[in-house]
Amino acid sequence: MRVLITGAKGLVGTALAEHCSASGDAVVGYDHKGLDITDSDAVESVIVNERPEVVINCAAWTDVDGCESDADKAWEANVFGPENLAGAALLANAAFITISTDYVFDGDKEGFYTQRDQPRPISVYGSSKLEGERKAQAANARTIVVRSGYIFGPAGKNFLSTVVSRAARGEKLTAISDYWGTPTYGHDLAVRLRELAALDLPGVYHVVNSGDGASFETFTREALKLAGLNSDTIGVVSGDDLNRPAPRPRNSRLKCLLSEAIGLPPLPHWHDALARFVGTPQRQRRGI
Ligand SMILES: NC(=O)c1ccc[n+]([C@@H]2O[C@H](COP(=O)([O-])OP(=O)(O)OC[C@H]3O[C@@H](n4cnc5c(N)ncnc54)[C@H](OP(=O)(O)O)[C@@H]3O)[C@@H](O)[C@H]2O)c1
Repeated sequence: MRVLITGAKGLVGTALAEHCSASGDAVVGYDHKGLDITDSDAVESVIVNERPEVVINCAAWTDVDGCESDADKAWEANVFGPENLAGAALLANAAFITISTDYVFDGDKEGFYTQRDQPRPISVYGSSKLEGERKAQAANARTIVVRSGYIFGPAGKNFLSTVVSRAARGEKLTAISDYWGTPTYGHDLAVRLRELAALDLPGVYHVVNSGDGASFETFTREALKLAGLNSDTIGVVSGDDLNRPAPRPRNSRLKCLLSEAIGLPPLPHWHDALARFVGTPQRQRRGI
């Protein structure tokens, strides 16, 4: 496959570029500097000239609290960006995948969110991502939306991706214990993204590692255990006490109704995924 990846230097973009290259694809990766997805002329010109068979959008403004105080910027990146890419992919006759989030849900449900659940975002970030899904689907019927959550990986700078490195250098960690999601390893997400690209079946997919999900606290304890580090010193905090600018869904665990029906096996358990991540040599991990 000839794959064009936007946001290619982010957590997911890096994992995807690595996996596609290792699988023998011709990979064209654009980072933020190389292609700003809010620039519709540049997007069209790059995609038409590169002639990819599939465009996979890993670019987004992922600063949840930042989005809360700058809705215009959130809309530019997370709504008009995917819309521009979807339209350009249509012109280039390419399949199109854009990544969305568990934060499109309000978090009030007890169990897992599936595609039958009505999205009801409670933050600007979640609203912008949901509108991005819709604008992309309206611009190009061949759009595949992949919702994921609690993503971690070697190129990640977020909490989940950096707990082991930070604990290893003696930092005291404080983890939220009362918000839950489905941890997802960037590499496993990348494998599924490539499979979905090859299948070219438009729709909304929920792609997460298997298991009952986790809070940041559960994830951190498991990560430190796997790394052979002492988890007794982990501090625990309620997400509600942090007074963060943007509200988060309390429970945003995802399950997919479609994957098994189209012959795709569940992704490995997140414990297994985390063990592979923790086994990654330190130098390949950011946040050190
Ligand atoms: N991480 C998670 O837990 C999580 C959970 C659910 C869904 N997602 C979704 O997964 C996707 C990938 O996220 P990620 O975790 O890989 O985030 P990430 O590490 O922040 O990567 C996003 C990349 O997009 C780039 N970018 C931002 N605005 C751009 C623009 N206007 N044009 C081009 N590139 C731009 C960023 O570059 P700069 O940093 O240089 O601006 C960054 O490299 C996103 O759609 C995100 O919403 C992530």
